[in-house]
Formats: sequence, structure tokens, C-alpha cells
Amino acid sequence: SDSLKIAIIGGDGIGPEVVGAAMNVLEAAAPASGCKYESTEFPFSATHFLETGHVLEDVDIAELRKFDAIFLGAVGGLPNDPRLAGGVIEKGILLKLRFELDQYINLRPVTLYPGIETPLAGKTSKDIDFICVRENTEDLYCGVGGFVRKGTPQEVSNQTMVATRFGAERCIRYAFELAKTRQRKQLTLVHKTNVLTFAGDTWFRTFQDVASDYPEVTTDYHHVDACCMYMVAKPEVYDVIVVPNMFGDIITDLGAAIAGGMGIASSGNLNPDGTAPSMFEPVHGSAPDIAGQNLANPIATIDSLGLLLRETGRIKGDQAAVTCGERVGAAVKAVTPKFAGKSLDRSGYGTDKIGQMVIDSL
Ligand code: NAD
Ligand code: IPM
Ligand code: MN
Repeated sequence: SDSLKIAIIGGDGIGPEVVGAAMNVLEAAAPASGCKYESTEFPFSATHFLETGHVLEDVDIAELRKFDAIFLGAVGGLPNDPRLAGGVIEKGILLKLRFELDQYINLRPVTLYPGIETPLAGKTSKDIDFICVRENTEDLYCGVGGFVRKGTPQEVSNQTMVATRFGAERCIRYAFELAKTRQRKQLTLVHKTNVLTFAGDTWFRTFQDVASDYPEVTTDYHHVDACCMYMVAKPEVYDVIVVPNMFGDIITDLGAAIAGGMGIASSGNLNPDGTAPSMFEPVHGSAPDIAGQNLANPIATIDSLGLLLRETGRIKGDQAAVTCGERVGAAVKAVTPKFAGKSLDRSGYGTDKIGQMVIDSL
């Protein structure tokens, strides 16, 4: 098959550092699996915006559509930078790509790898092993809302939660298909139907309707507040979670924390229909507090690269890419025992060193 075309967006802060470490892993891993790839770098980032005034234009999206996958580090500057107010970067790059490229699934595994320490007392790898299917193109992320009398004492703002039957159903169906392939075949819907009686109701009824097509999958429902409690107190209850966009954002940072830290959490923004490229990125952001110091843990990004190779390889029918992705995933798991007794995110190993440890264990 022809080679895998990967668009690289390093982004800001630690983004380029962790993506650089991951690309070194790809370079080392590809030949043995016969995986052929070409990569092209794009500058979209807060830094690029401040230099040029450009965020991400429609022509850029058209260009990115030509690739098989997008690999992104992180975008965004300091949270209080007035020049970046109003989510100009997050909305203008990240959310624009997710929405325009119809990446309607955000897949976020929560797996406690061997040797990694969880803050949850008494929990081990067998207790923390689930995956979140976060809806990625609707909900509070649609940007529907506005102000009345902004800047006055009578100011009113609203921000609308949007749920469609179509959007909920394709996400829920994806989650059932995924649950079906897993050993436990268990799927939990997470929402807040006791308060969000419109959007939550659409999700709940859709979930029940789709469930009748999957008798082999056992189902459950948790309110999102209870889900946070279970994730900490009884994470073993989860196998697959399906969750709308905003709650999914929040619970997956909690997921990263129970699996050892931001340095471990990988994700894929998937367009499962293959009508546009999918995008792979760590869950964490640009971490301005540790940028440029070779301190960031690149494991989350390397694991996201593994996911990129497996998912894109599957969609393209490129078995060599799938095999390469499996090797990368296995190499990550072989390295994590070296973190035993250390903090994952402040291990003292350095970005370069961790990248090299993964390469050595390929
Ligand atoms: P963050 O994830 O960047 O950082 C949170 C904390 O985790 C920081 O203390 C940081 O040092 C630590 N951390 C993150 N990644 C780490 C790693 N790989 N190794 C070790 N420690 C790590 O979140 P934030 O500070 O809320 O956001 C910073 C910027 O990133 C903001 O502009 C935000 O909008 C943006 N952001 C971007 C993305 C993305 O591009 N996908 C995701 C989240 C946040
Ligand atoms: C994430 C991030 C983004 C989100 C932000 C930066 C727009 O937090 O990928 O989890 O909310 O989805
Ligand atoms: Mn987030």
C-alpha cells in the first residue's frame, strides 16, 4: 500500500517537545513493521497566531483533509493572556478541526499501566482499565449562546447545551460496537438526566433504543456526579463509558489523574466513517509552566501515536501501520515499570530520556 500521510501540528509549549519525542519513536519503529509514512509539519498554534494573525483558515482545513491522519501536540498559551482571550486558539484550532472534520468520537482510554502509581489507595491495574467514548461535535461545545446587556449590571449570558438524536445515536452506537469487542462487554451511559431533562432525555432514550440491538452488552446508567465518585472509589465498575462532550472533558482529566497523571493520557478524535482524517493528541495541554525545560512526559503522546497507527491503519487497510501501532503500544507498556516508585509527571527522567527508553524497548 502507499505510505501513510501524517500532518503534524506540534503547537505550543510542550506540544512540539512531546511530538518530537513521539516522531523519533515512529522513525525507529516503522522499518521493522514495513510501515511507510510521510510527515508534513504545520505551524498552527498560539505562537503562530501572535506572529501572523492567522489561526486556521478554511484553506488550511482543505489542505489537512488530504492527509490520512493529524498528529497534534497541544495548542494554547497562558490561560490569562489577554491577546488569546475568548478561546481564540482552542475554538479556532482544536474545536474547529474536531467539528469541521466530523471527528465525532473522542476516544480516551483510562488504563493504569504496570508500575505506574495511582493516587487511589489499594487499587491496581486490574481495577483501573476502562475507556471513555466522549461525544465530540455537540453539547456545550457548539458555541450557541450569547449576551444581553453585556457589561452592565443587568448582564445576562447563556450557553446552550445542544443534543441531536443523530449525534447521540452515532456516538452511542460506536460505544456499543466497542463494548461488544471487549471481554466484559459492559457499557455505562454517563449524563445528568435528573437536571438536564431535555438533552439528557434524548441521550437516555437513544441509549435504550440502541441497546436493544446489542443484547450481548450489559448496560448501566450513572449521573455524572456519581460517576466522579465511582471513578475514585470503585473504578472497577467501568469497562466502557459513553458520555456527552462537556462531561466527557471533565471526567477524562479525572481519568488521567487516577491512571497516574496527565503524562499518560492519550486520545483519538475519530471520524469513524473515514470521510475526513482523524486527529490524535494527548489529553493534556501545552503546560506553559514546564515548557522548554525537557520536563514533559511524552508517554501520552507516544501512546496517541500508537492509537493513530492502529486506527488509521484499520481505516486505510494498511496492516503494516496497524502492526507498527501495536509495537508502539507494547513498547510503552514495557517501559512504564521503570516509573515504579516515582511520580509519572515529575519522574526526573526528562522528555528525551523517556522517548529513548521507549525506543530501546521496541
Ligand atoms: P495542562 O494540561 O497544559 O497542564 C496542567 C498541569 O499538568 C500542569 O501543571 C502541567 O505541568 C502538567 N502536565 C501536563 N502535561 C504534562 C506532561 N506531559 N508531563 C508532565 N506534566 C504535565 O492544562 P492547563 O494548564 O489547563 O492548560 C494550558 C494550555 O493548554 C491552555 O491554553 C489550554 O487551553 C490548553 N489546552 C490545550 C489542549 C489541547 O491542545 N488538546 C488540551 C488542554 C488544554
Ligand atoms: C481537551 C481540552 C479541550 C476540550 C479544550 C482545550 C478546548 O480540554 O482536549 O480535553 O475542552 O476538549
Ligand atoms: Mn480537557
